[in-house]
Amino acid sequence: MKNIILTGDRPTGQLHIGHYVGSLRERLRLQNDGNYDEFIVLIADAQALTDNADNPKKVRDNILEVMLDYLAIGLDPNKVTFAIQSMLPALPELTAYYMNLVSLPRLMRNPTVKSEINLRGFDKEETGLPVGFVNYPISQAADITAFKANIIPVGEDQLPMLEQTREIVRSFNRIYNTNTLVECKAILPTNKTCYRLPGIDGNAKMSKSLGNCIYLADDENTIKKKVNSMKTNPRNIDEPGIIEGNVVFTYLDVFVKDEHFKKYYPEFNNFDELKKAYENGGIGDGKIKAFLNDILQEELKPIREKRNEFAKMLPQIIDILKQGTNKAIKISNQTLRDVKEAMKINYFDNDNLTITNK
Ligand code: TRP
Repeated sequence: MKNIILTGDRPTGQLHIGHYVGSLRERLRLQNDGNYDEFIVLIADAQALTDNADNPKKVRDNILEVMLDYLAIGLDPNKVTFAIQSMLPALPELTAYYMNLVSLPRLMRNPTVKSEINLRGFDKEETGLPVGFVNYPISQAADITAFKANIIPVGEDQLPMLEQTREIVRSFNRIYNTNTLVECKAILPTNKTCYRLPGIDGNAKMSKSLGNCIYLADDENTIKKKVNSMKTNPRNIDEPGIIEGNVVFTYLDVFVKDEHFKKYYPEFNNFDELKKAYENGGIGDGKIKAFLNDILQEELKPIREKRNEFAKMLPQIIDILKQGTNKAIKISNQTLRDVKEAMKINYFDNDNLTITNK
């Protein structure tokens, strides 16, 4: 069996360190392992429009921002195909056929969609829920199956989309008695703390709309200010520190390596030692914020510098996107042909159109 990796992001803003630890680092690892036949990254502009129909400019403006983030973290256009979702005509057509395989209550049960509906106020009468928005898990199944992708590096919040995709694949293959479509599995980070990085304000989710993100593009000063603004519990320095629910420690858990201690905090050898000492009291929050800042600056500086370099090469990047999109159009069109053949709606192939029982 072929290994086809596929993933995507909605271009609604620059990518942040929540994306980075939740999925981007895994993509980079998969790329560098090299154990795949095809690796496709979709810039999911059509999906972004499902809740931004009134603001296509935002979506448009963020296509290259997201591309810069991809290239800055080290995704390599020689190894990865980058494509723009809305440019692939097979995707909405596949979506249309899959829509007949999924019930409305099944769509409404999707826990990620449910919480997104809530977050966007679509459950309020005056706003109303766009049909396209509830339907996006089906269109995501089209994204994945159009490439017969089996390996999907995503954030943990995307698991319900992959479950929905597998259900569609099974229904399709059963109903049309075929093995055209391929089942997929998620690739998640090994450290579960990476699943959902909280915002700098302590909110459970880092998100653009909550204004609590550290972006891959943030400059040194901005990062420092954001780290210093992280909420900790005020206490006397000698009192025991509390790690549970402490954002600074959550971030440390995700980014710290033993070598950081040698460089920036030689009093300790590793994270466990620091945690014990913090819980015993005597370590101020300013000190651990300074440590976290050192670590984040070290991690993000090369990314930001590469991003700034790539930002000077936009014509070449647009070219990369064009070539990737053209390749993706071909692959997804072939799958659409396979799907229509399986459904026997490829009427004009092989004089396929007949009258049965006559
Ligand atoms: N829903 C994903 C997100 O919000 C983006 C996405 C669109 C995607 N199509 C995809 C992810 C296909 C994985 C596979 O981040």
